Amino acid sequence: MLLAPSLLAADFGALTTEIQRLQAPNAADWLHCDVMDGRFVPNISFGLPVIEAIRRAAGDLPLDVHLMIEEPGRYIDAFARAGAHKITVHVEACPHLHRVIEQIKAAGCASGVALNPHTPVSQLSEIAADVDLVLIMSVNPGFGGQKFIEHTYRKVAEARALLDRVGSRAHLQVDGGVGLGNIAALGRAGADCVVAGSSVFSGGDPLGALAALRVAASAAVSDAQ
Ligand code: DX5
Ligand code: ZN
Repeated sequence: MLLAPSLLAADFGALTTEIQRLQAPNAADWLHCDVMDGRFVPNISFGLPVIEAIRRAAGDLPLDVHLMIEEPGRYIDAFARAGAHKITVHVEACPHLHRVIEQIKAAGCASGVALNPHTPVSQLSEIAADVDLVLIMSVNPGFGGQKFIEHTYRKVAEARALLDRVGSRAHLQVDGGVGLGNIAALGRAGADCVVAGSSVFSGGDPLGALAALRVAASAAVSDAQ
């Protein structure tokens, strides 16, 4: 299971220090960066200059940029130049989703597509083979610290079945309300990457929290064997 801590829950006043801590061995696999525009979601987080600053502090850690913005196609090249390695856009924000996915790849980034809780997995049927990452939102996007929505397990299993059917090796990521209580079940349902904000940062010991998540996730693997 890949762990992508969400910097939304980090201390923005000490972002460089927070990020450097996450570079310890077996800590973060990716840095998840939540970009919100106050239109696609009812909150504003940060944008391009902050992504550039995160990139400078991140060392070898890939930046997993989750765009919760309208018309993301207008900004793909700018986010790629700012240092994104992976760019995920929402199905709900893209009437020309295939074009935006091609734009992300042309910019040299891994391409991801996200589904809000009410959006069915079937919306991905014609794009699943073309993307590098599928993100199932397990909360309504916009805020950290929300309660995990239980129907996510079923959606993850459906998305896993779709990716297998089209022969895709795309990552299957879950974002929102993920912690020790559900990471194992998400792994069993077919997720191979989770985003975690509050469960990593709110206790004041992000490295300890990440280590505990790894133990919980690997327990899921051994249970299943
Ligand atoms: C929500 C964001 C998430 C959020 C997760 O809109 O996409 O990445 O930061 O935070 P937690 O883990 O606290 O739910
Ligand atoms: Zn996110």
